[in-house]
Amino acid sequence: MRKNIVAGNWKMNKTLQEGIELAKELNEVLSADKPNCDVVICTPFIHLACVTPVVNKEIIGVGAENCADKASGAYTGEVSAAMVASTGAQYVILGHSERRAYYHETVEILDEKVKLALANGLKPIFCIGEVLEEREQGKQNEVVKAQLASVFSLNEGEFGNIVLAYEPVWAIGTGKTATPEQAQEMHAYIRSLVAERYCKAVADNTSILYGGSCKPSNAKELFANPDVDGGLIGGASLKAADFKGIIDAFK
Ligand code: 13P
Repeated sequence: MRKNIVAGNWKMNKTLQEGIELAKELNEVLSADKPNCDVVICTPFIHLACVTPVVNKEIIGVGAENCADKASGAYTGEVSAAMVASTGAQYVILGHSERRAYYHETVEILDEKVKLALANGLKPIFCIGEVLEEREQGKQNEVVKAQLASVFSLNEGEFGNIVLAYEPVWAIGTGKTATPEQAQEMHAYIRSLVAERYCKAVADNTSILYGGSCKPSNAKELFANPDVDGGLIGGASLKAADFKGIIDAFK
């Protein structure tokens, strides 16, 4: 059966020293009071090699926020999936709306990134979600369905390593959270698409996280929905107490 997961996305925050401090603090509070779900922290590239050794792997997984769409070579400034994996990280966020919007990541680029991540043993946390205008036009289902093409090209075995994250763009960093009903409706739809593409067993095994202004005060009602298997947390993952508050929603 699928796992409940709370994953943090630090985005472009924290110096190396601040990041190590936060990872240590989280490790301490979660070692003292064990979570009832999987916990992952996705950090900037430069933090990975320093953060992986300070967290207890049994309690906290580590991931990158991106990886290159090329395997290796003359791509100045890029970081490959193999390099990410070599730090001890196990996950990588791919397809985040900020990367799609600001860095022009297309479906073709994402297809390559997903393949390279899997080939290097990383679990992609693959993000999908509509912008406000698309929701206002009632197009959220078709947008999300199109975005899923990048992972639906995988075979069943490969897809088993994918974690999905529904992040309505209008809810990211805006303080405007999707209602539990909106989240459940979309998550159930996404799961139905997985069942249609693969089968019911695969759909039942797929963790689908919600992301967008998730915080300790609303996590419980969001995660209480049958098809919401946890969260991908931005702002509230930057403070150990807030992140722990969200993790505790599974208690
Ligand atoms: P916020 O939690 O800051 O809204 O960000 C969500 C997000 O983009 C996680 O990937």
